[in-house]
Amino acid sequence: MKKIGVFTSGGDAPGMNACIRSVVRTALERRLEVMGIYRGYDGMIDDYFEPLGPRSVSNIVQRGGTIIHTARSERFCENKWRKIAAENILKHKIDGVIAIGGDGTFHGAHKIGNEFGIKIVGVPGTIDNDLYGTDYTIGFDTAVNTALEMIDKIRDTAAAHERNFFIEVMGRHAGFIALNVGIGAGAEQILIPEVQTDVESVAKKIEKGKERGKTSSIVIVAEGDDAGNAYEIAEKVRKITGAKYRVSVLGYVQRGGNPTAFDRILASKIGAYSVDALIEGCSDVMVGEVQEKRSIIPLEETWTKKKGISPFLLQLADILAK
Ligand code: F6P
Repeated sequence: MKKIGVFTSGGDAPGMNACIRSVVRTALERRLEVMGIYRGYDGMIDDYFEPLGPRSVSNIVQRGGTIIHTARSERFCENKWRKIAAENILKHKIDGVIAIGGDGTFHGAHKIGNEFGIKIVGVPGTIDNDLYGTDYTIGFDTAVNTALEMIDKIRDTAAAHERNFFIEVMGRHAGFIALNVGIGAGAEQILIPEVQTDVESVAKKIEKGKERGKTSSIVIVAEGDDAGNAYEIAEKVRKITGAKYRVSVLGYVQRGGNPTAFDRILASKIGAYSVDALIEGCSDVMVGEVQEKRSIIPLEETWTKKKGISPFLLQLADILAK
């Protein structure tokens, strides 16, 4: 192995830059050259490859986003474009590739690895934390902390106006952000895709809270909840309780900002793990971290196996909301 490529793909996540920095600096330590593949799979197809040296990754560890940009590439779903991408990798004499991204990124990496023999290792970079095989994904901790800061502010006005707030957080089809930020923020209820939502029960819990003297409530809604988005659920509840409510969709602020120490350290570790995994001959795998140790699992398992939601956390959320 003499030269590796690295790219970021799918939804960006705070900590991706810390990971890129670790990949580059670790590779250089191992006497490998590094090529940045810009704009994810689109850049791989369009031959947007640039060398990355030690100074290319100076002063980025603290920055959100990704200096090599990212994309969601429709074209990469077609074999003919994947073939062009593979040819570009070979043209640049790249011996192995590191793919920093989430579920969609790993599907593409699995395909290009198997169809064209490209040595490729996945790094879990997504705020959703929905990838099996790693305790945490890069960006998740920062997203939870960003959402927490915003919900604390909303709690002030909810209390002042004695209102019910329905606050929508990201997570695509998973409830990890919602559950963790709900507990951290002391939310009265947390609605996630993994647990069927009964709107009658949501309304009843708000009424019960009032009987116990609560004058406002915070309901966290994961964007993929089965009962709908925050606006839809709030309106359904209003029809039952008649109570005033407001809605806040936190949106894309959860994707940006300076990564937390946790995410910077996690990203730096997994970035280094991924370079060594390539050198050891691994391919078509994701490198993550489980109980503070490097974990390596086949890429396919990251989506065929499901990371479970903690039943203890679910129960705790209920108890603490009383
Ligand atoms: O996968 C990360 C994520 O932020 C999800 O939580 C969210 O549903 C999705 O990306 C939004 O995608 P886009 O950035 O393409 O709008």
